[in-house]
Amino acid sequence: MSEQKYGLAWSEEFELGCPQIDAQHKRLFELVNNLVKACTEGYDRKILNETLDFLVNYTVEHFKDEEEFQLRYNYPGYARHKQLHEDFKVIVGEKVQEFRETGSTIDLSNCVNKVVVQWLIHHIQREDKKIGNHVRRLELDDNDYGTLKVSISRNK
Ligand SMILES: [Fe+2]
Repeated sequence: MSEQKYGLAWSEEFELGCPQIDAQHKRLFELVNNLVKACTEGYDRKILNETLDFLVNYTVEHFKDEEEFQLRYNYPGYARHKQLHEDFKVIVGEKVQEFRETGSTIDLSNCVNKVVVQWLIHHIQREDKKIGNHVRRLELDDNDYGTLKVSISRNK
């Protein structure tokens, strides 16, 4: 993230090892950066609103997919994780509402850079990574079981 003062730069440290989720996180980074660019370069208000809506809608869809993914793999931290998503949606909803009322692109870009970027970095590195670790543990258990079955059949 060093070369970039604002927004988000993708790097390996954000990878969970779950391709579907990693791809969505990468796309989220792009959309955040598009919004930062739209704010700082003074894009037309219509484009700004569309960029903002697109990011918000994509985030909601991504959370839904990520939660389904957790259920599919019986992730034990599902309820807490879902709550973190819900809390973030409330924060973003309030900020979007503020923007609709005031129209301040400075406030919006500050919010994206301070609140959204920080939340995403922290959330992916601390919380989403736990999902990746959980899935890897399951796969490891499966492999152990497979090895066990092989060694049992060999002993017959
Ligand atoms: Fe998440």
